[in-house]
Amino acid sequence: MKVLVVGNGGREHALAWKLLESGKVKQITCVPGNGGTAALPRCQNIALGVNDFEGIARFALVNNVSLVVVGPEVPLAAGITNYLQDQKIPVFGPTRQGAQIEASKAWAKALMLEAQIPTAKAVVFNNAEAATAYVKAQGAPIVVKADGLAAGKGVTVAATVAEAEQAIAASFGGQFGAAGQTVVIEECLTGQEVSILAVTDGLTIRPLLPAQDHKQIGVGDTGANTGGMGAYAPAPLVTPELLARIQREILEPAIALLRHKGIDYRGVLYAGLMITPAGDPKVIEFNCRFGDPETQVVLPLLSTPLEDLLLACVEQRLADFPPLEWKAGACACVVAAAEGYPGEYQKGALITGINAAEADGTLVFHAGTQVKPQGLVSDGGRVLCVTAVADEFDAAFAQVYAALSQIHFDGIYFRSDIGHRVRRSHAVL
Ligand code: AMP
Ligand code: GLY
Repeated sequence: MKVLVVGNGGREHALAWKLLESGKVKQITCVPGNGGTAALPRCQNIALGVNDFEGIARFALVNNVSLVVVGPEVPLAAGITNYLQDQKIPVFGPTRQGAQIEASKAWAKALMLEAQIPTAKAVVFNNAEAATAYVKAQGAPIVVKADGLAAGKGVTVAATVAEAEQAIAASFGGQFGAAGQTVVIEECLTGQEVSILAVTDGLTIRPLLPAQDHKQIGVGDTGANTGGMGAYAPAPLVTPELLARIQREILEPAIALLRHKGIDYRGVLYAGLMITPAGDPKVIEFNCRFGDPETQVVLPLLSTPLEDLLLACVEQRLADFPPLEWKAGACACVVAAAEGYPGEYQKGALITGINAAEADGTLVFHAGTQVKPQGLVSDGGRVLCVTAVADEFDAAFAQVYAALSQIHFDGIYFRSDIGHRVRRSHAVL
């Protein structure tokens, strides 16, 4: 079987690595991939853009690719799945219609209301004046969200009305282009966030292990939001009882309503949840794809062959698929970023020490790297995702941080407190 993976982040490196674990996958092509996927056995990168649907389809047809797995939301929202399906190429990832669940927060909110899925109360606005008046009436804290895709930067959790007003002005002022000409203003939820990545064939939906990530750049979960600075799984906060509730109250109603609307959703439905202090799960957002870096901590624990699971979704046979099997233990991941991220940062720093870091079985997934004549260099804000599996979280994080101490590049930055909620040495902050 030949697989094509679309994307170039740590998530796609982890997907390719996992797919290669079984002997069935003979070759993987990453579009465009990164320095990590370039170094995997039986894996090649090709220099096409993730939005070059024609090039991707041509490659898949000429090379008899039996499965395309799409990592990022942008090509999904732009209809890569519709394009490939039209050419009878099997693809894991929702159509443009399904991807609206991530690409329009207003659309997703309406879906949640209709399906009676628990979520923050929200109102949608198409102009700054009405939005500002509403915020003044509601008071702070309050959350302002650009409707469309904004590369993770479209959400402001405003501690004051002035901050909310600024976010509204910036959004309608064009900070996010068309994506910000509609805003969703939302009640501010408190509690702990968890990520539930679930796979679906449009009829049946199965959650993977619950994960938690750390979105903020600074120690103690402070500072600017990022794509994610580290993660761990399984999140102990999500007991089997809570997971069953999430399945019943959130995942199943979402898929049932999508289906009712004529949307055939085959891919990942990622529920970003707040577990309130009372223990109730509420949806913060849905994503239409695997999470990054959650994928890097969930896949190393999966025993079920990934290609079998993804094909069962694509071929709509998930109901008959055996229960997912998981390895015992805990998986931890810490992101090494370039100094300045999520603001401005440099690319092209020479990276050393990865072989030494991997010597004890640590997994170094590349998030933003490239192979150049001088060696492996940084090529993004998030550069590496250093990942380890152990019997328990303390050991997994100790292994990750020991591996990180072997890795060097100019301006390397990582948080020292990833996993503080589950590490004994970092009791709840
Ligand atoms: P999103 O881009 O929707 O994932 O939002 C980014 C982050 O903003 C989330 O991970 C939360 O930390 C925070 N956030 C979003 N919506 C809310 C909300 N209603 N209440 C509190 N925090 C929120
Ligand atoms: N880790 C957050 C995301 O993938 O959106």
